[in-house]
Amino acid sequence: MKKITIVGAGRVGESTAQILAKEELCRELMLIDIHDGVPQGVALDIQESASLLRFDTRVNGDTDPAAMADSDMVIVTAGFPRKPGMSRSDVLDANLSIIDGIVDAMLEHAPQAMLLMVTNPVDVLTFYAWKKTGWPRERVFGQSGALDTARMTSFIAMETGYSVKDISALVLGGHGDAMVPLARFTDISGIPIEEFIDPQTLEQIAERTRQGGGEILALKQHSSAYDSPAAAIASMVDAISHNRRRILPCVSILDGEYGQQGIAMGIPAVLDENGLVKIIELHLNEKEKADFERSAAMVKEDIARLP
Ligand code: 2OP
Repeated sequence: MKKITIVGAGRVGESTAQILAKEELCRELMLIDIHDGVPQGVALDIQESASLLRFDTRVNGDTDPAAMADSDMVIVTAGFPRKPGMSRSDVLDANLSIIDGIVDAMLEHAPQAMLLMVTNPVDVLTFYAWKKTGWPRERVFGQSGALDTARMTSFIAMETGYSVKDISALVLGGHGDAMVPLARFTDISGIPIEEFIDPQTLEQIAERTRQGGGEILALKQHSSAYDSPAAAIASMVDAISHNRRRILPCVSILDGEYGQQGIAMGIPAVLDENGLVKIIELHLNEKEKADFERSAAMVKEDIARLP
């Protein structure tokens, strides 16, 4: 990609920018934030690491939304973070008006771009942005499953002591307390996870995955997670930038898949240079289906609150 814009130069935005710049996933990286000095300062700081980290990405910062012009992708991380004890849904009203302004700016300045939503509640805001843009769903999607799956993978590595490189896990559903970690689709080097971990411990890992964001927030108190979210965003950008056709769990608009309509939530999807080009529909068993539907019902409750 020639140009990627990150809207929101807070911790997630900055961490993401560091990885995208270092990995040279685009030629030009633009950071936009409403707090004058912040995007410019973050961009300059990253730019000054270029000779040390050996990258040619040009990094700039601006407060003017017009600076996103000609972007191939806009990554939205701006918004109010939740505080300890809050759910992701609790920040919906506050973040809605922020997303409104960003989508308006995209429609004006970057109408050809892909939109990668990160701001919470991510499923609801992805759906909202998709409706507002009127763009095809290939170009409007969100990050959550890549992060939730990475968390589950880490917990399995901690439990078994085996390399994360050999662990393949899968988490579907909304990015909330009812997300759906799928042990049946999880393995270590192709060997089903049940061969290594007993059902009770697996359920504890699933629950820790569901609470993964909250666990970090409770520990840090003044910040949500940002290193692992940034790495998760970068994995999606890498798949698109290198046209890899990777299958990653993404927040996608559903149009009948998984029996759902009028919703965005996490499912496995193919990412290539054209964006989210294909949804992979899994044959879920009755329990998995019920869990997925429970998660969908929670996302729909928030979608019903949208203007
Ligand atoms: C997380 O799960 C902030 O939603 C983000 O850490």
